[in-house]
Amino acid sequence: MASYDVIIIGSGPGGYVCAIRCAQLGLKVACVEGRDTLGGTCLNVGCIPSKALLHASHMLHEAEHNFAAMGLVGKSPSVDWKKMMSYKEDTIGQNTKGIEFLFKKNKIDWLKGWGAIPEAGKVKVGDEVHEAKHIIIASGSEPASLPGVEVDEKTVVTSTGALELGKIPKKMVVIGAGVIGLELGSVYARLGAEVTVVEFLDAITPGMDAEVQKTFQRTLKKQGLKFIMGAAVQKTESLKTKAKVHYKLRKDDSEHVLDADVVLVATGRKPFTEGLGLDALGVKMSARGQIEVNAHWETNVPGIYAIGDVIDGPMLAHKAEDEGMAAAEQVAGKHGHVNYGVIPGVIYTHPEVANVGMTEENLKEAGHAYKVGKFSFMGNGRAKANFAGDGFVKIIADKDTDRILGAHIIGPAAGDLIHEICVAMEFGASAEDLAMTCHAHPTYSEAVREAALACGDGPIHM
Ligand code: FAD
Ligand code: NAI
Repeated sequence: MASYDVIIIGSGPGGYVCAIRCAQLGLKVACVEGRDTLGGTCLNVGCIPSKALLHASHMLHEAEHNFAAMGLVGKSPSVDWKKMMSYKEDTIGQNTKGIEFLFKKNKIDWLKGWGAIPEAGKVKVGDEVHEAKHIIIASGSEPASLPGVEVDEKTVVTSTGALELGKIPKKMVVIGAGVIGLELGSVYARLGAEVTVVEFLDAITPGMDAEVQKTFQRTLKKQGLKFIMGAAVQKTESLKTKAKVHYKLRKDDSEHVLDADVVLVATGRKPFTEGLGLDALGVKMSARGQIEVNAHWETNVPGIYAIGDVIDGPMLAHKAEDEGMAAAEQVAGKHGHVNYGVIPGVIYTHPEVANVGMTEENLKEAGHAYKVGKFSFMGNGRAKANFAGDGFVKIIADKDTDRILGAHIIGPAAGDLIHEICVAMEFGASAEDLAMTCHAHPTYSEAVREAALACGDGPIHM
């Protein structure tokens, strides 16, 4: 039996970041991981592999659609799927090995196996029981199931199966127009699949700024994705190498069937707590299966904490990381903090979509007076040169104080541009503060400045 200051269960972005910060703060740390490699969902079957495939397929799209217009003519690339898969695997390997290196560097013990908590202060891994003053659960999430839909990870797949298909399907049906459905749907559409997205609601990416939703859907349609909106999936039928998707249109209850080579089920994820023994410990859970924590990430059982996808809030790697650092500070006797009002969300399609803070819809509902500054990438010289003029930056500021309340971007490098606004919001900046900051020319970030100018006397280039 070994004794630790902290044992963390799960080595995803929440767990591994927490472990590193705990070690940096002088604590003796172990991290339990049941997978063969560190890094959790994000590095193994989530953020990293999906971004590798998005990158590779985007390069192909650029070659097919934009190269000739720039005078780049001649042999166009074709897809070697096996090679693309091994590029993805290499990318995963480099990242998971990187965490292993960081664990060694920070003297963090990796307890290999599935952990359970027999009682507060103890973690069981295999036959061994280890002691810990603090236990932090970072066990993450898994795909949510859908009634009538049986996943076999071959023809009816979750994101995990979709990241390792044996070949590129001719026809793919995606259930759910959320982040996973649109990112992975984009990958296969660019690689030549006919992709149809079936969505229960009338708009894609629920919760997002309505104007962005419309522009985003229009752009994806131009890229060849088809959408069936307001459609409730009833069941899927798996026929070895093909599948059928049965759905009902909500407006008239009419029944329809779609054929597919592969069906991707992307209707959300749920917390993963299996085998931890939380029931017996009396750890309080929400109706949605999330572990309940207080403002310091501690559960109702003293000494047991939880962070990341397994608790409430957006299921995002950077949210889990921030909670990992903050919980580490907390158990080290310091004061950890996460500003939940300034957590950006990014969809890594092309163009990218990014948001932070309030939407117009949120503010209307709250009766909060606001103003909007908007600027199209069509007015941005760099974007025009790069065939990236589709999309806009929209900044929302308080009507009276001019304080920035939120921002919504669809366009080139949106996922990077959003952070300028995050920093501004952390400092309580006004739109004018952004507008008065010199921005280098020619950069995409000039569009952010122009949107900030549009909150005041108006943009220059529109
Ligand atoms: P996880 O990353 O899920 O890690 C939990 C780990 O705990 C797992 O490795 C699991 O094996 C281990 N574990 C669980 N129980 C036990 C146990 N009892 N004993 C031992 N080990 C255990 N987010 C983004 O911010 N950006 C993205 O681009 C992005 N892309 C995504 C793409 C896909 C396809 C998917 C599925 C998700 C994506 N996400 C993205 C979401 C992101 O992956 C999660 O929000 C993030 O991984 C959550 O981190 P976590 O540490 O809470 O849990
Ligand atoms: P999601 O919650 O983003 O989207 C699910 C979609 O499915 C919604 O549009 C919903 O209305 C729809 N839906 C639900 N039931 C349905 C039904 N029966 N029929 C048709 N449509 C239905 O969930 P998703 O895409 O599975 O992603 C899970 C999590 O992973 C998200 O919370 C996201 O934060 C995270 N993620 C983040 C990424 C990023 O940051 N770029 C990338 C991929 C995942």
